[in-house]
Amino acid sequence: MVGLAQYLAICDKRFFKSAIDELRKSALIDTDSIERIYDHEVFLVNSKGSPKTGPDLVPEDFEFFDFVVKIDKAIAFSKNFADVAKSVSEAVDKSKRFKIYVKKYGFKLAERAKDIEVAVGTEMERMGFIADLKKPEIAIFIVFLEDRIFIGKSTAGESERPKIIDWFRPSNVDDKDIGLNRASFKIAEAFNYFKVDPSKIKVAIDIGAAPGGWSYYLASKGIKVIAIDNALMNYEKLCEKFKVLVISGMDKESTGPDQNTIIGTGMGEVHRKNLSVSNIEILQIQTIADLLKLYDIVQIKAPAEEAEKYIAYLKILRPGLLAIDINVKPKYSIEVAKKFSRAIDPEGIIITTLKFAMIDTAGTISYAKKSMEDIANEIKIKKLPHNRKELTLFAYKK
Ligand SMILES: C[S@@+](CC[C@H](N)C(=O)[O-])C[C@H]1O[C@@H](n2cnc3c(N)ncnc32)[C@H](O)[C@@H]1O
Repeated sequence: MVGLAQYLAICDKRFFKSAIDELRKSALIDTDSIERIYDHEVFLVNSKGSPKTGPDLVPEDFEFFDFVVKIDKAIAFSKNFADVAKSVSEAVDKSKRFKIYVKKYGFKLAERAKDIEVAVGTEMERMGFIADLKKPEIAIFIVFLEDRIFIGKSTAGESERPKIIDWFRPSNVDDKDIGLNRASFKIAEAFNYFKVDPSKIKVAIDIGAAPGGWSYYLASKGIKVIAIDNALMNYEKLCEKFKVLVISGMDKESTGPDQNTIIGTGMGEVHRKNLSVSNIEILQIQTIADLLKLYDIVQIKAPAEEAEKYIAYLKILRPGLLAIDINVKPKYSIEVAKKFSRAIDPEGIIITTLKFAMIDTAGTISYAKKSMEDIANEIKIKKLPHNRKELTLFAYKK
């Protein structure tokens, strides 16, 4: 049929309803019919006529879809990788150096996605195609489903490609030691997706910081972190790379540390500093500012509600980023974001996860966006690959 285009769209099944809604509304693909082909995760989009802007790959324009690729070829499921390679060869230009990315669903194939990439790639090379794992000119995507195999490709620019690939197979990035825990990937993806330049941020406030995945990532980008959480962080792991200080002993009634005590954990060693100054409030803030010169991460070991008292002082540090990842209802995360946004610089970045206990995704999103409008510009929400039952909100403080 002339002009018919088919797309394969992959989303997190937790958000499939919102994903389909956005696909229907999307101007990018002129959606004609949407077929669910795997659970609530993979969709086949039949687009009548050529798609409006016609990209091979649509990774960025959707809030909920992780990955959308134009299908070049759909074939029957086969375990014969030479056959698969033959089909791939018919869909791509032989003069372009290639790299293959495989995603598989179901249990029909015992081989890991990576092994399949090697097997198909080897067959392609046998046919005279040239593989280039470092700087491919063409990225080939092969999706194995229960009964079909879909082949798509991207000739997107080199700088775009690593990002795209992460959407396609988030486990790809799991191999790299970029963080302390899975949460590290969430903040890394947020930086990547929302194009945050870490070198422009000197100080960040990280609320709900324990056990420390976000703080670890931020500190590794050279950002000084004020971590706020009443829970213990993974000091052992953090201290392998960073100097960490924990300010504890916050007393509900007092305006500062109740015992004038700071517990510092610096590069493996734990020590105490006794600070005897009569005006604790002043001590508190001067201490944090000074300590940020000495430490990479300063944890205020208190919940946000208590640390709130120090917003005026935190402001002196001129944080360029407010990062929030607390396991509470989205409305409350927004409330905390709005309160603590007072501590960061104008045009500072706000990143917060929104955790969904109940699925009123659309309602929560419109509430979050509307509510943030008072204090922020360019509010965006995205389901990032490592977000599970949550979304990530990004905005600039007004
Ligand atoms: C999902 S964990 C955060 C993971 C963390 N971002 C990381 O990278 O490792 C949620 C954290 O939020 C903290 N939390 C929950 N309510 C909070 C509040 N009101 N103030 C500060 N922290 C809070 C919890 O103690 C918990 O450590």
